[in-house]
Amino acid sequence: MIRLENVTYHYNKRVPALDSVSIDIDQGEFVGVIGKNGSGKTTILRHMNGLLLPGEGSVTVKGMDTKDPSSIFKIRQVAGMVFQDPGSQFIGMTVEEDIAFGPENLGLPPGEIRRRVENSLSAVGMTGYNDHTPRTLSGGQKQKVALASVLAMEPEVILFDEVTSMLDPDSRKEVLSLITQLHENGTTIIYVTHCLEELVHADRLIIMEKGRIKHDDNPRLLIGQGNVVNSGLGLPTVMELSRRLLEAGFFEPASFPLSREELRDLLCQLK
Ligand SMILES: Nc1ncnc2c1ncn2[C@@H]1O[C@H](COP(=O)(O)OP(=O)(O)O)[C@@H](O)[C@H]1O
Ligand SMILES: [Mg+2]
Repeated sequence: MIRLENVTYHYNKRVPALDSVSIDIDQGEFVGVIGKNGSGKTTILRHMNGLLLPGEGSVTVKGMDTKDPSSIFKIRQVAGMVFQDPGSQFIGMTVEEDIAFGPENLGLPPGEIRRRVENSLSAVGMTGYNDHTPRTLSGGQKQKVALASVLAMEPEVILFDEVTSMLDPDSRKEVLSLITQLHENGTTIIYVTHCLEELVHADRLIIMEKGRIKHDDNPRLLIGQGNVVNSGLGLPTVMELSRRLLEAGFFEPASFPLSREELRDLLCQLK
């Protein structure tokens, strides 16, 4: 679905932000990406829909090269991106204009545009907000409108860049449950986060370090084997506890619990 081959990228600096990165993402995967600040997470995401073009190497989305100007419109349609700061994404004067902007650019008929606007608003739980001004919404609502604008393009892949970092706990839960639902319906998800708890549904975890992919494997294995901690990244309390139980021999890395509920179930099964 998305393939990076030996991608190197410099932002006018001697040290590359991405250093010979190769990765292959299959349709329907939920890929979590973690790493310290400045490790290249945002830069790698921006390569996945052609917002940045590789200095060296190549990026293809469904076989289309991001360096091919005639493909970029289609690539952006296939791979939508939601940013950390939702305010940076607004274009329209009203929520409806904002969400309709992408579908209008696709040249869709008015009825289809309306259908997409209503479906997207409903998906994020904001039906009826059509005439609101994006600026007057709360942080959580802005992030939901930003997501609705991406959903209205009906993308096959959605790239999320620390989208919950500015949300209150309730909005965060709502956005996460919507993402889980999108994944269940077949959307490919690439999810950059600081919070490992958010990756309960990830099939794959990438750990970035200094512009390189340090690990790329099953999240349970990587966390269970200590690769996250060894990369200098902290674990949430529940996972810290699970690591101690694992070290004490209660279970294997492959069955490492990724949530409080999974830990409870695992403990209940112990003899
Ligand atoms: N617009 C920019 N101009 C110059 N350097 C940048 C820019 N954006 C990121 N960088 C640098 O590139 C590296 C990777 O950054 P980034 O991809 O934003 O990391 P992350 O998202 O993991 O925090 C860092 O060293 C950062 O300082
Ligand atoms: Mg970033």
